[in-house]
Amino acid sequence: MRVTSDYIGRCGDLSRGAVRLAFHDAGTFSLRLAALGLPNGAADGSFLWDPEEVLREENNGLQSITAALTPLPEKFGVSPGDVLQLAGVLGVIACPGGPRIDVWVGRPEPLNVAPTGLLPSPFDSVPNLTGRFADMGFAATDLIALLGAHGTAKQFFVDPDFAGESMDSTVDIWDVNFYNDTTVANPPPGVFRFQSDVNFAHNASTMAEFHGYIDNQPDWDQDYRAAHLLMSTLGYNTSDLTNCTELMPASINLTLVSVPDASGILHVDPVLLEAATQKYRAPWLESNTCVDGIRCQTPNRE
Ligand code: HEM
Repeated sequence: MRVTSDYIGRCGDLSRGAVRLAFHDAGTFSLRLAALGLPNGAADGSFLWDPEEVLREENNGLQSITAALTPLPEKFGVSPGDVLQLAGVLGVIACPGGPRIDVWVGRPEPLNVAPTGLLPSPFDSVPNLTGRFADMGFAATDLIALLGAHGTAKQFFVDPDFAGESMDSTVDIWDVNFYNDTTVANPPPGVFRFQSDVNFAHNASTMAEFHGYIDNQPDWDQDYRAAHLLMSTLGYNTSDLTNCTELMPASINLTLVSVPDASGILHVDPVLLEAATQKYRAPWLESNTCVDGIRCQTPNRE
């Protein structure tokens, strides 16, 4: 499968896609629908089960990662939700600096087609977006932490004239530059900003949290890990699932691969980063090698 050559330990289009897919899968969960006993969404992998879901307009751009993951539940005899949400946490850790998020497995098959009209738009207002995330079960603080995933994100459909532009000046690194790049008056060259992200950076109800992550990777790591874990289990109770976090690879600590410039500001050094990637991602980078019993396959580099 061609995708495996991109899917073994490096930050790129498929890892970005996997993180966004994990959100779009879980982001159709609604406490309101649950209270009414109506068909609901969940972190259930419905994208890999209902071929129509990825065709919805709000899911534009998720076709490649969905196609890559769709055969895996049957191939490995596990549920779509486990495959899709595991891909999301692997997508985070594939990017240098990405934290190790707890992994839970054992989700049953999806119950129904995901409800429509629940995913956020970059043109929604702050109250609408915080309200929608509250209906998923997130505090506004969780939402601001989760938004940092836009630090390794690109846009293709919001403004096609700027397709491929990223929301952060260091798109291949899981860092906090997104929070600064979104807050400053003028974005760095090549950085595309969503109106909703800019609104969060300046709205009285969210700006303190947003600015609190500027130059503060440790706090963001901690808050992001907790919020992503909640996202990856929306609609489930972890007491019904099994924790298999020990199978996750190590995170690449950015302070170990960074060097100070003349002003003392740390920058990731490409040589150190590649050496760390070779060390910490060796089992993924080597074809035919598996981590702790996770089944792997030989990458086809055609
Ligand atoms: C207010 C909430 C959010 C809004 C309005 C929003 C909106 C968007 C939009 C419009 C795109 C670009 C799609 C395109 O044009 O290609 C995007 C990309 C992305 N989003 Fe979000 N998003 C939100 C929250 C999240 C969350 C919670 C996560 C994950 C934790 C996330 C992860 C991503 C990623 C990784 C991408 C990049 C995908 C790629 O490069 O292929 N987003 N988001």
